[in-house]
Amino acid sequence: MTLAGKVAIVTGSGRGLGLAYAKALAAAGASVVVNDVDRATVDAAVAEVKNSVGVTAAVGDAESADSLVRAAVDAFGRLDVLVTNAGILRDRVLWKMTDDDFDEVVRVHLRGTFTCARAAAIRMREQGEGGRIILISSPAGQRGNFGQTNYAAAKAGIAAMARTWAMELARAEITVNAVVPVAATAMTRTIPAFAPLIEESERTGEPLPAWVRRDEGLGSVDDVTGLVVFLASDAARDITGQAIGVGGDRLALWAHPQEKTVAFRDGGWSASAIAAGWASGIGQELEGYGIPAPKPPAA
Ligand SMILES: NC(=O)c1ccc[n+]([C@@H]2O[C@H](COP(=O)([O-])OP(=O)(O)OC[C@H]3O[C@@H](n4cnc5c(N)ncnc54)[C@H](O)[C@@H]3O)[C@@H](O)[C@H]2O)c1
Repeated sequence: MTLAGKVAIVTGSGRGLGLAYAKALAAAGASVVVNDVDRATVDAAVAEVKNSVGVTAAVGDAESADSLVRAAVDAFGRLDVLVTNAGILRDRVLWKMTDDDFDEVVRVHLRGTFTCARAAAIRMREQGEGGRIILISSPAGQRGNFGQTNYAAAKAGIAAMARTWAMELARAEITVNAVVPVAATAMTRTIPAFAPLIEESERTGEPLPAWVRRDEGLGSVDDVTGLVVFLASDAARDITGQAIGVGGDRLALWAHPQEKTVAFRDGGWSASAIAAGWASGIGQELEGYGIPAPKPPAA
């Protein structure tokens, strides 16, 4: 699959998944703008990603987004692909979460995705040759996750923006999809359920066990890059508005929220009418929530 002649921006590509996306896009022939918050990390990434230039900037504001698009155009003459990958965690339960914890996470993930996608969409529409906007969501945004008020809200918002922008940018032939990745990185090492599995694999040098790769969809960063390269390519020109999960041996299409069970009552639903009909009506099929804890298979 070739991306020859295409120009991509990957935010937060100094390490982890972002660096893996940048390398994979470059390996497929794209020119790449790498980005992270500190100069040394960016310089190291530029040295690793062939055909790349670096921009040191914290995504979140319009100026950083504009500087990324400007770098793509100045260095390579155009912009075809944006991957909004930059992210941070500030996990705490609701009653301990500070305003700063909330604002910082929303700023990088949600506002960073919005400002970068807006700058990219403006440039891609001017070029008039379509484009690919690949947003990075998370299982936490799809299901909710303990301790992640800020992050789950931002990642759910990102999936919602993908669906909205898929509509708005369809005429310009710009596709917008949300990738829902899972991979062993510095970020996942902070999640208690995954930390021991990742540490064990690092200690022994063995790959993560087959059940982790298959049931939990947790593998290495390189397991996630194929989906990003595919979505960036001409082969994915008709795929838009989707939330697609990938990790380990798993590739998954996430359902979009929709009405699952509906009940009607002439004149509408008073509180007592809802109470009377709940258990025999829509209350029979309540939804689960939260990311289930990893379950090793019985020995
Ligand atoms: N690792 C997973 O399993 C997983 C699961 C779901 C979603 N994600 C998402 O994938 C993305 C990458 O995650 P990762 O695991 O590689 O994390 P990571 O912490 O290893 O890498 C994130 C990178 O983003 C950079 N960054 C942070 N704030 C930035 C900003 N304002 N501007 C530019 N760069 C910034 C960091 O410096 C870091 O290099 C994140 O959006 C994350 O939420 C990861």
